[in-house]
Parts: sequence; C-alpha cells; structure tokens
Amino acid sequence: MKLQNLVILGTGGTIAGRALNASDNIGYTAAQVGIDQLLAAIPALAECGPFITEQVAQIDSKDMSFAVWAQLAVRVNYFLTRDDVQGIVITHGTDTLEETAYFLQAVCRPAKPVVLTCAMRPVTALAPDGPQNVLDAVAVARHQGAQGVVAVCAGTIHGAWDVQKVHPYKLDAFSSGDAGPIGYVEEGRLRLMRNWPFAQMRHASIAIENIANWPRVEIIMNYAGASAAIVQALVDQGARGLVVAATGNGTLHHELQAGLFKAQAAGLKVVRSTRCIDGRVLPLPNDVIPDSEGLSPVKARVALMLDLLAEDAQGLAARRV
Ligand code: SIN
Repeated sequence: MKLQNLVILGTGGTIAGRALNASDNIGYTAAQVGIDQLLAAIPALAECGPFITEQVAQIDSKDMSFAVWAQLAVRVNYFLTRDDVQGIVITHGTDTLEETAYFLQAVCRPAKPVVLTCAMRPVTALAPDGPQNVLDAVAVARHQGAQGVVAVCAGTIHGAWDVQKVHPYKLDAFSSGDAGPIGYVEEGRLRLMRNWPFAQMRHASIAIENIANWPRVEIIMNYAGASAAIVQALVDQGARGLVVAATGNGTLHHELQAGLFKAQAAGLKVVRSTRCIDGRVLPLPNDVIPDSEGLSPVKARVALMLDLLAEDAQGLAARRV
C-alpha cells in the first residue's frame, strides 16, 4: 500500500548549522543548510517517504518572530487539510522550540501529528544528533493514532504543553517535567507512556493569517530586591500584558506585587507563573493575580497573547455588527 505524504518543513536551527571545525560543537552558525540538503544526508529516510519538503524560514530560533510563527501556522494549517498528508515534521532550533510547539498546538489544534525536531550539534559535528532525531520524528509522524504537536529529541517524545529546554549543551536537552514524556522512539518503534496532546484549548480559536498587531506581552521575574520600576516602564511603553515568573508557589516581592496590582487596575492583564523548573503555581481562593494554569513563563506569555488577540478579534466583530 502506498504511504501518504509526510510534509517536512525547515525553519533553521542548529540542526541546519555549520561550524568550521568538525570538533566544534558550540562555535557554529545555525541555519546554514537547506531542508533538502539536510534530508539528503540521511539515507535511511528513503524508506520512509514520500515526502513533501518546504523551507518556511532559515533562522536561529533565538530570532523567532511573530511573522515566522504566522507563516509556519499558515503552512501547517494548509497541509493539515490535505487528505494526502499523514503528518508534518518541522526542523527547528532548540532555543525557542517549546514556544513554537505551544503556539502551533494552540493555533492549529491538529488532529494529525505535527512533530518538531531539532539538534544540539551542527551538521558538521563528528557525531551530529540531527539525523537520528529526524528519523525518530518521522517514525512519530508515521505512527497510526499520533496527533497534536509534539517535540522529538534524543529518542524522547514530549507534548507541546510540557516540553521545556532544560540543558544548554547535553544532547538530551528537553524535559516534560512532572508530566513525563509522551513516550520514546526505540529503533523506529514507539513506546508510549501517555496520551497525545488533544485539540481542546482554553483560548478561542484565532485566524492567524489576519493578525495586524500582536499585543505586547512581556515577562518579568521576581527575585531578591525586585521592585515595581520595570512594571511602570512597561506600562509606560504600552504593554498590554505581563507574565511574572514568580518565586516558589507564585510569591512576589511586596514592591513588585504593588506595581503589578497597579498595572492590573490600569487594565493590563497579569498572569503568575513560577520560576521553578518543575511543578506549577497552586491557586488560592483569594488570588488577585491569576496563575498560568501550569504553563511555564514563556508559554504563559504565548497564551496571554492569544487571549488578547481573541479579545481584539471579538471587539472588531462587535464593532462591525
Ligand atoms: C537555535 O535555537 O536555532 C540554535 C540553537 C539550537 O538549535 O540548539
């Protein structure tokens, strides 16, 4: 039986990076090798096609922008609607992969697999990790029943809600924290531990191709000696939302807290996440600042931007009636 197409979208990252020296795993330039060249260097892929490839971007993911996110979501949505497409693999830098994963899950809500993969070493390394990660990602995208946005790195499948880069150098750089991974890829076969991400999201769905103005949402942190000065500066600059990476179970220095209450009173949306790597802020009945419902600060920021975009769209629709 002929397999359906798998789409592979390139966006850059270390997986497409080049160094001058094969023994150099850190002094490389990301996003140098095109998606077709990258895949041509993985002969084992020949047995896993057919593929449709597209270069959506060619960037170091530290430079991820709203424009690239929108373009990526548009292409993902397009390929998801095609009956001849089984799933999508996206090659991406590791640095902001978790934000892109959450964004695509929230915006595209895929009933098919959308698998982000990456590498910690460039193409030119003595032992690059990208080729195996791509093969594993393809195995996930070909798995019957796979769905939603996941990340595959170092033989581990992480869900879009939970995945977080936790190490700047190790090949196994990602964790799903308390939730644990969705599963593992072992010699092309999947060993699943829990369910795939499901389409239900708390955000209203938004038409990504129509966004003219992305709301400004910034992340600030609580720490010893924190003050309200940064909050005031951001309010003055027109920020519409703030995510605070609070200490522990959502605690805030009293001066920063006073500034955030003032910002709320002025109409800004404020959300509390925790700077702890695992766990979540456990809410109390009288909380003035809502918690991020388990999202890390960077994902809580994406969620808040999407909430504000949905509000803007509703406002626009109401004005048109
Ligand atoms: C990037 O995020 O694009 C560079 C770093 C990496 O992919 O590991």
